[in-house]
Amino acid sequence: MQLGVCYYPEQWPRSMWADDARRMAELGITHVRIAEFAWSRMEPRAGEFDWGWLDDVVETLASHGLKIVLGTPTAAPPKWLVDAYPEILPMRADGTRWNAGSRRHYDVSSETYRRECVRITAAMAQRYGSHAAVVAWQTDNELGCHETIPSYTPAALARFRSWLKARYETIGQLNDAWGNVFWSMEYASFDAIELPNLTPTDANPIHLLDFRRFMSDEVSAFHRHQVEVLRRFAPHADVLHNFMGFFTTFDHYRFAADKAIDVASWDSYPIARTESIALPEAQKARYARTAHPDVSAFDHDRYRAIGQGRFWVMEQQAGPVNWASWNPVPAKGMVRLWAFEAFAHGAELVSYFRWRQCPYAQEQMHSGLNLPNNELSPGGIEVERAAREIAASHVLSTLAAPTRADVALVFDYETQWMFEIQRHGKTFDYQTLAFEYYEALRELGLDVDILPKSADLTQYRLVIVPSIAVIDDGLIAQVEKSGAQWVFGPRSGSKTKDFAIPANLAPGALQRVLPMQVLEVESLRASLAPAVRVGNTNGVAVHWREHVRANGETGVEAAFDDQWPAVLAHGRVRYVAAWLSQGLHRALLQQVAAEAGLTVQNLPEGLRTRRRGDLTFAFNFGPERVQAPSPLGARFVLGGAQLATGDVCAWLDVDRTDNPA
Ligand code: GAL
Repeated sequence: MQLGVCYYPEQWPRSMWADDARRMAELGITHVRIAEFAWSRMEPRAGEFDWGWLDDVVETLASHGLKIVLGTPTAAPPKWLVDAYPEILPMRADGTRWNAGSRRHYDVSSETYRRECVRITAAMAQRYGSHAAVVAWQTDNELGCHETIPSYTPAALARFRSWLKARYETIGQLNDAWGNVFWSMEYASFDAIELPNLTPTDANPIHLLDFRRFMSDEVSAFHRHQVEVLRRFAPHADVLHNFMGFFTTFDHYRFAADKAIDVASWDSYPIARTESIALPEAQKARYARTAHPDVSAFDHDRYRAIGQGRFWVMEQQAGPVNWASWNPVPAKGMVRLWAFEAFAHGAELVSYFRWRQCPYAQEQMHSGLNLPNNELSPGGIEVERAAREIAASHVLSTLAAPTRADVALVFDYETQWMFEIQRHGKTFDYQTLAFEYYEALRELGLDVDILPKSADLTQYRLVIVPSIAVIDDGLIAQVEKSGAQWVFGPRSGSKTKDFAIPANLAPGALQRVLPMQVLEVESLRASLAPAVRVGNTNGVAVHWREHVRANGETGVEAAFDDQWPAVLAHGRVRYVAAWLSQGLHRALLQQVAAEAGLTVQNLPEGLRTRRRGDLTFAFNFGPERVQAPSPLGARFVLGGAQLATGDVCAWLDVDRTDNPA
């Protein structure tokens, strides 16, 4: 369990640097991320480098025993570069260019900009790549943030055409696959294809989907140019990128493939995230100062797999932020809790954003570990406490690597894109559906691994597929091979890879293991709420429901009040033909988990647990005081069983024999 901080020495007088480094080390911080927006100071004019200040910062931090994460500064191209090459500015779907004057004002497809990024990365890496204190490199910053991707530039169009040519080979095959006979959309050559923007009504969904697939690959390619340079000049350092929470614009599994990163790091702003996602207002109100109990966990569990077991929190909320609709001060204890929560889910490092609140420019309303006057902030005081607690406990400072959970939840980026392109109902959002299944599992006290469909799922006892637009033979082979209970949610298998309805109807290939067919689908306004009972719980379908037919031996385990099946089962495989209201997912999963031989608990509202090795952590996100589900005689290494809001505790398995202190 290591603690870090994001630091912007270029924003402060040189006279403060040594004292900052000393105080960081005293606080218990081990890692410091620097430089990711400092291009204009590294290279004030084209080709004129000024490394003096950065040399000083690196030496100052290193001399206090701090390890450095160096960011390549490519998220903030300096103005002289934009003036020299205005074509690097990205373009919005409405055809207008974004301006310089903030950050991320570049087009990911611009070959000119990629060349410039390689140039500055190489200059940096040649200078610091072999420095012993520089233990990791971050490429760019939050790729895709501020909706700068997709970008609709001429550069993107040229590369999109080549991408399509590589995928379809001939224009005839593309026309067939896309169904371009519809509305006379047939093309005579790849050069005739445009980007799918500025069309009077919907562009062809497969055109939109291929453009999203292409853009996702563009993001990976942009990152990989920098990785090649870093591997050459900094072969001993970890390479990473800081991803975002609830962010699906590119396929993170593909991004991370082929060792494109060593660690998955992500930026965790739980309160702002709770405010900005599609949660019921009552939950937003209940968790306004603590964040919803699953928002961080969901991404911890997702990024752990993306990093092949290794993940960091690169930026952790340290107090109020500046960018959500409302930005409250976190409840007492939360800044400390979020660190232990990340560690419980397997994080190696939690790095807070930022060392000191900056009194000027865009983020002056964003807190840090220090107030603008350099006094430790309330968040800073909590981090100091967490650092002391970790240092004082042998168990906490030597945690085992995270192990496999019993439950897998399959997450699929393409499914998100396909259902965004064709929501069919205003409120259908795949990621939110996946989150609700995740929430239900966690309310039952289950640990979850979030994985791509290509992962080995056969070792799990319960596999949840909240939905998956395209079901391929590989996934069916996994169902056949595994001994797990499987649950597939609505819209599973509803499309082919070319964005069409499968010839045998939905759920496509799933019919091989669960004979059934989807005859019609409906999206539901709030006033349309077919009722259903699952186990002892009454509820309704929300957002989405299907009219399905059970074929062959398939049984109907629950039906709506108008007789349409709600839950179908065949052996160990189930299909849920609707988006179920709160409480119903949990009722269903409780029953399925029992069939999978898993022990479940009904945790008090707002309480969550997570196991790491032989330690169990419990966290209270709710406004009420609650009791952690620790066994009698549990040996606590952190806190105790009574948890006030924002409290955390951790206990060892009862049979652990060595000294827990
Ligand atoms: C992140 C970003 C940081 C900072 C932070 C504020 O999205 O990477 O640079 O802007 O948000 O919360």
